[in-house]
Amino acid sequence: MAAGDQRKVITVADPAALARIAADRVLARISANNGRVAICLTGGSSPKKLYQLLATESYRSLIPWDRVHWFIGDERFVPTGDSRNNMNMAREAFLDQCAPASNIHPIPTDTNPDDSANRYERELKSFHGADRLNPARPLFDVVLMGVGPDGHTASIFPDYPALAETERWVVGVPQAHVEPFVPRVTLTLPVLASCREMLFEVAGPDKRAILTRVLDGENLPASRARAMGETIWLVDQAALPENFRER
Ligand code: 6PG
Repeated sequence: MAAGDQRKVITVADPAALARIAADRVLARISANNGRVAICLTGGSSPKKLYQLLATESYRSLIPWDRVHWFIGDERFVPTGDSRNNMNMAREAFLDQCAPASNIHPIPTDTNPDDSANRYERELKSFHGADRLNPARPLFDVVLMGVGPDGHTASIFPDYPALAETERWVVGVPQAHVEPFVPRVTLTLPVLASCREMLFEVAGPDKRAILTRVLDGENLPASRARAMGETIWLVDQAALPENFRER
């Protein structure tokens, strides 16, 4: 699978349509893989509706839960049960009701961000069965992503060392650029790129300014995040720049 430079923008009416289309895309990727499936979830508020939808009967009954594994692209360094913990949000929204516990792969937050990054990197390598990424065999089927007001994605902030990382799979981030101002742990761009589909969800008027910058090609972490497979930006009408044209 060659690295894809193309980014496709799909526009939808509103957050409800966005969640539905995202859920259909996740389902299609799961259905396309007869073996063990790996999905990398994201935090923040944008994916919550999607997660809740996956727990509803019409999706839940179509997902082969025993062979789907759920990872997280970044974590806020707060205790597991804290409401700001990204995996905690995903657990409450759908995982705890639907997925076997052994298929849920949280980033640990019980020691310090660097140790936690090392442990999660080992876990990902062991799941992948290799210490190196292989362009012919992506690590993830789907990587979900969001974009922050400063152009960060996962916990890769503008001008932070994590942005330039090419060797490590997971790194500790001592300080965040935006709220919550807690240390983070994040997967790096090459690891997030190792997927069949990277799916950004962008909704609401507050995202319009940063989306304009991303679509204008500004050098931001979210602009640099590209899948080896397809990179899709699902965007609702309220987030679309006024002069948006398909590009
Ligand atoms: C986090 C995230 C982060 C998020 C964006 C968008 O831990 O905060 O993983 O990268 O996706 O900040 O967040 P919203 O969806 O809340 O706008």
